[in-house]
Amino acid sequence: MGTEKTVYVAMSADLVHPGHINILQVARDLGEVTVGLLTDEAIATYKRLPYLEYERREQVIREIKGVSHVIPQHTLDYVPNLRQLRPDYVVHGDDWKEGVQKKVRQDVIDTLAEWGGELVEPAYTEGISSSQLRSLIKELGTTPEVRMKRLRRLLSTRPCIRALEAHNGLTGLIIERTTVERDQRPVEFDAIWISSLTDSTARGRPDIELVDMTSRLSTIQDILEVSTKPLIVDCDSGGLIEHFVYKVRTLERLGVSAAIVEDKVGPKRNSLFGTDVPQTQDDPEHFAQKIRAGRDARVTEHFMVIARIESLVLGEGVDHAFDRAKRYLAAGADGIMIHCRDREPVELFEFCKRYNALDNRRPLVVVPSAFPQYTERELGEAGANVVIYANHLLRAALPSMQHVARSILEHGRALEAEDGCMPLPEILELIPPVT
Ligand code: SPV
Ligand code: MG
Repeated sequence: MGTEKTVYVAMSADLVHPGHINILQVARDLGEVTVGLLTDEAIATYKRLPYLEYERREQVIREIKGVSHVIPQHTLDYVPNLRQLRPDYVVHGDDWKEGVQKKVRQDVIDTLAEWGGELVEPAYTEGISSSQLRSLIKELGTTPEVRMKRLRRLLSTRPCIRALEAHNGLTGLIIERTTVERDQRPVEFDAIWISSLTDSTARGRPDIELVDMTSRLSTIQDILEVSTKPLIVDCDSGGLIEHFVYKVRTLERLGVSAAIVEDKVGPKRNSLFGTDVPQTQDDPEHFAQKIRAGRDARVTEHFMVIARIESLVLGEGVDHAFDRAKRYLAAGADGIMIHCRDREPVELFEFCKRYNALDNRRPLVVVPSAFPQYTERELGEAGANVVIYANHLLRAALPSMQHVARSILEHGRALEAEDGCMPLPEILELIPPVT
């Protein structure tokens, strides 16, 4: 017998199940097995973030019988690792002949051909898959700690993530459940934004920090109840420093990932009014103190206190905004939100350019309510790390509700309104009880 053949198997191994074991059994019958374990970054390029970090997944895989080596695979593409190892075999389930992995498979075949290697494709194990396990986990829910840490993990694995506004359990559920396919990849929202505007509006109140913390916490609780995604909470001005520290503690304890606090002083008005109504920006030193106090109040370093700069909204210009960004970062802010209400946000892009050049740059949040023509990709290329769609679910519901209310009055019956309503059987099935 000659020297032992070498075998390469790439996997994410996030939720290890018998399908993985079958593949590894086939591989170890062929020779000495090296597992190319996809890094968190590699996985995040084509599906959602793994539940377990690379180090933990590695710990599991290297203990499986027949696995001789575990090395990182930094991209979905096998080619760099294959060229380095020149294995005799690659083993992968036969479920990758179609869809997003089709090209990856062809590249494996072409590369192996360079040294006479062979692709072995055992039949895919029916009846169990990571996606089934994932939906089971979603049903089981999450814990405050896992959810809270998830935002930082997402930020460290993806250049730009997206959040959508929720203002009650139903909208939280919509965000949790909505997935589409874009370029053959599943796309979903990464996080949930708890907007002061929509939380207030949904309660029939103006957005002037009138809805008290207890009421806002009740909205947050309803959303936590039905979702597993990280929450970013709009904390308005944060109120008095002495009060803000309590808010940080409460949010952290619930498993919220971040509080965004804006450098305005009360009575705060919504940013989208700009200078149309009197609004006062906080003294930068006082605000830096608020950020510092908020961070000091945290129990863990996972919770993020993000400083929101209102200079562009208030017509103070880019120099003013940039000076504040530096001060707030120096005070320890875990990220900066730069707000802008211009339809063509020239100043925002200028700010981003200067911000990106900072050595101590931290995640940058943008809210493109006034400039929806820009895609996440474009905003990400400009420097945004979080794009927040801050008010869209509520704005979508309002015209529809007004239309139905008018229609019933106009016709003296509900028939004409039916078209704009979800059919009764569907609403009855929408939220089945847990069995
Ligand atoms: C919110 O959603 O409440 C915000 C963003 O603070 S904005 O409405 O644009 O000020
Ligand atoms: Mg707000």
